[in-house]
Amino acid sequence: MKILIIGSGGREHALAWTLSRDSRATKIYAAPGNPGIAEIGTCVPINASNIEEIASFALREHIDLTVVGPEAPLGAGIVDTFRKQKLPIFGPDKSAARIETSKSFAKDLCSRYKIPTPRWETFTDAAVAKRALDRMGPPWVVKADGLASGKGTTVTSERREAETAIQRELEREPRRIVIEEFIDGWEASFTATVSGGRAQWLAPAFQDYKPIFDGDVGPNTGGMGVYAPVLMVTEAIVDKVRRKILDPSVEAMAKENVPFQGVLYLNIIVKHGTEDPRLLEFNARFGDPEAQGIAALVKGGLLTHMREIAENSKRPSLPECASSASVVVVLASKGYPTTPSTGDRITIRKVSQGNVVLFHAGTAIASTGELVTAGGRVLNIVATGPDVESARKDAYSAIGSSVQFPGMQYRRDIGSGQLRRRKLEQIQT
Ligand code: GLY
Repeated sequence: MKILIIGSGGREHALAWTLSRDSRATKIYAAPGNPGIAEIGTCVPINASNIEEIASFALREHIDLTVVGPEAPLGAGIVDTFRKQKLPIFGPDKSAARIETSKSFAKDLCSRYKIPTPRWETFTDAAVAKRALDRMGPPWVVKADGLASGKGTTVTSERREAETAIQRELEREPRRIVIEEFIDGWEASFTATVSGGRAQWLAPAFQDYKPIFDGDVGPNTGGMGVYAPVLMVTEAIVDKVRRKILDPSVEAMAKENVPFQGVLYLNIIVKHGTEDPRLLEFNARFGDPEAQGIAALVKGGLLTHMREIAENSKRPSLPECASSASVVVVLASKGYPTTPSTGDRITIRKVSQGNVVLFHAGTAIASTGELVTAGGRVLNIVATGPDVESARKDAYSAIGSSVQFPGMQYRRDIGSGQLRRRKLEQIQT
C-alpha cells in the first residue's frame, strides 16, 4: 500500500512511523514532511494547504490511503476534494470539520443536544461583547471563533486584557468570538475514532502541559508534553464522557447531516470537587503531541484501523495497546514560544532503548547538510512502560544521552503527577 501523510510536525512523523510499521505499507510519502519522516519515507515539497496539487500527486502515484495531520487542510476541504476523485482519505469532510474550525458551531451543537459544556455566548460586535463582560463577570474566557493556530484563547480576570482580546479576535476572520464561563478544574484530552456513525476510544485519556516552564509557569505553548494514563480520569469519568459527550456528539453530527468520520478529540474539563466532565473543545484530528504518545502505545501500528475508518466501516477493528503508559516530552528551541531560534545545529545519537522513540517536529536540513532547528517545538521524545513513572524515567534519561542543541529547553515535570489547572493568564501560543 502507498500511504501519504499531510503535514510536517511531530504528529505527522508519529503517524508516518506507526503506519510504516505495517508490512503492507510498501511506500510512505509526506507532503511536505520533515527530516525525520525522510528517514522512513519520501517527502514531497507540496505545502499542506495546496489541496489541488496534493490530490494530483495522490492520483498520479495511486496512493491507497491519505492521512491528514493538521486541522487547516480539513477546514479547507481536502477530504471533499479527495472523495470527489475517489481517493481514500482519513479525516472528516469540511462540514464535519466545523466541529473544530468553528467554536460557535461546536458550542451551538452542545447547547441544542444537551452536551455538557461551560455556558457561552457568541458576539460579532466589540461594544456588545465588552458590555457583556459585566453581566458575565470575571474570570473571562475569550475565544476566537475560527482556527487560530492555538493562539485564539485568552483566560483572564483583568478587564483590560479581556477587552483587548475581544478587540483582537474580532479583527480576525470570521470576526466572531465566543465568551465562555470559566471553570476552575482540571483538563484531559480524549481521543476517539468515528466511522459508520459509531465512536470508539482509540487510546487512554492524556493530560497535556501547555505553559513553557515547570510548575505551569510562563506563557502558553502549542504543548510541552503529555502523559497517560491520568490518575484522575476514573472509569466513572470515562463512562460519563462517553455517554454524555462522545456518543451524543457523534449522533448530533449525523442528525445535522454532517456525519463525522475520522479522529474526534475531546478536550474535557472537570470542575474541582466534582466528577462531572464538560466539553471545552473538539478537535477534528489527532492532538499534537498526543498522537506521538498514542503511536508509541499501539501494537503493530494503525494502518488497518485507519484504513477501515477511511472506508467508513461500521465495525472497525481496534488496535491493542502494547504498554500501559506513555510519556511525551517536547524539546523546544531557545526563545520559544515568543521568538524561537532557528538554524541551531542538532546532535542526535541513536536511541538504544526499545521503548523510546524520537520524533522530529521543527527540524530542517541546512545547506551544509546538517540537521538544524527550524521551529519552536523541535523534537519529541516518547517513552512507553508499565506505568507513568517508569516511562517518564526512560524518556528523561534518553534526552540526556541522545539529543542536544544550543538553547534546548524542555519541562522536567511531564507526568510528575501534577494536576493541570486552568490558569488565569493570557494564552499565547
Ligand atoms: N494537544 C492539543 C492539540 O493538539 O490541540
